[in-house]
Amino acid sequence: MKAITVIPGEKYSADLRDVPIPSINENEVLIRSTQVGICGTDREIHEGLYGTAPKNEQYLILGHESSGVVAKVGKNVSGISIGQRVVRLVRRPCSGCENCNTGMNDMCSTGNFIESGIKELHGSMAEYFKDQSEYLISIPHELCEVSVLLEPLSVVEKAYRQAKEIQQRLSWKPKKALIMGAGPIGILQAMLLRDSGLDVSVVARSLPGNRKSKIIEKIGAQYLSTSLYSLDAILKSVGKVDFVVEASGDSQLAFDAMSAIGNNGVVCLTSITGGEKEITIPADKINLDYVLGNKVAFGTVNANQRDYVQGVRSLERFMNQWPEVLPDMITRRFPLVQFEQAFQLMSDDIKVILKPF
Ligand code: BGC
Repeated sequence: MKAITVIPGEKYSADLRDVPIPSINENEVLIRSTQVGICGTDREIHEGLYGTAPKNEQYLILGHESSGVVAKVGKNVSGISIGQRVVRLVRRPCSGCENCNTGMNDMCSTGNFIESGIKELHGSMAEYFKDQSEYLISIPHELCEVSVLLEPLSVVEKAYRQAKEIQQRLSWKPKKALIMGAGPIGILQAMLLRDSGLDVSVVARSLPGNRKSKIIEKIGAQYLSTSLYSLDAILKSVGKVDFVVEASGDSQLAFDAMSAIGNNGVVCLTSITGGEKEITIPADKINLDYVLGNKVAFGTVNANQRDYVQGVRSLERFMNQWPEVLPDMITRRFPLVQFEQAFQLMSDDIKVILKPF
């Protein structure tokens, strides 16, 4: 079968390769891959900055934003049948920390977790992939067109769930949120918060009038462009908010975001910034502000199984509420052979996907 592989650590090594169709044991499921999303992490792996091949193998099959149809089921597998649409969980436990032992692989404390398409396990950028049924989430047929958005949505679900868990320290009724970045994470986060009744502002670089700003406006959020106004002016006009999500991919903005939060508020950092940028920050001011305002900033990565389950419900609600928005987020679709084009980001792109079948 065809697969997109990389040699981790090697710059621009992504390649279309012929590899064997995975053979399954009695506890595994073979899935025909129908949609695979490309995200910043895949691009970083392609650039040689991130990623690890499975033990004793030279290459890694990319792809952690999966969606496919069950093609074959091992004889010990129950609850999954041929023809069913599924999405794969990304992270697997380490050999036994207190969190992985209780199904919280997304909170692994050793860092020795495994991630499909990223770290030590082949991903789904291939005609077929296999997995154990416990790592598969069933998707209703009506969602098949947008199911590839479930993985990034699970990250967003986890972010908001954790903010609510952290805020059990007080009585928290968030009304106003600010999101930095209008990529897939920023847009999906905006949808989730709008759906929860918050007043949402999204800060992004591009001038209004593009696909992203139209989507933001369609869901009833406010799109604020740093090409029109300075970030300072934008933050002043929005005023203090209850919840900030940083999803711009720029670590400078993570610190800027920290000044936008009101007393008792929460800042959530989601950007995976692979570089080594250094900046000067007003350390005393930030420290004092966080102490006197009881403010919290936290980082989040990956998602728990329950966030995927919650994500399926959110996809259903989003499709009912804003039927065109999720399909509109998938801006370009390519067969595996055109992977090079798919990896080149265009200015109006939100989510580019590969369609192996
Ligand atoms: C994925 C996460 C993963 C993280 C770090 C992100 O792109 O969405 O599932 O944990 O990369 O590898």
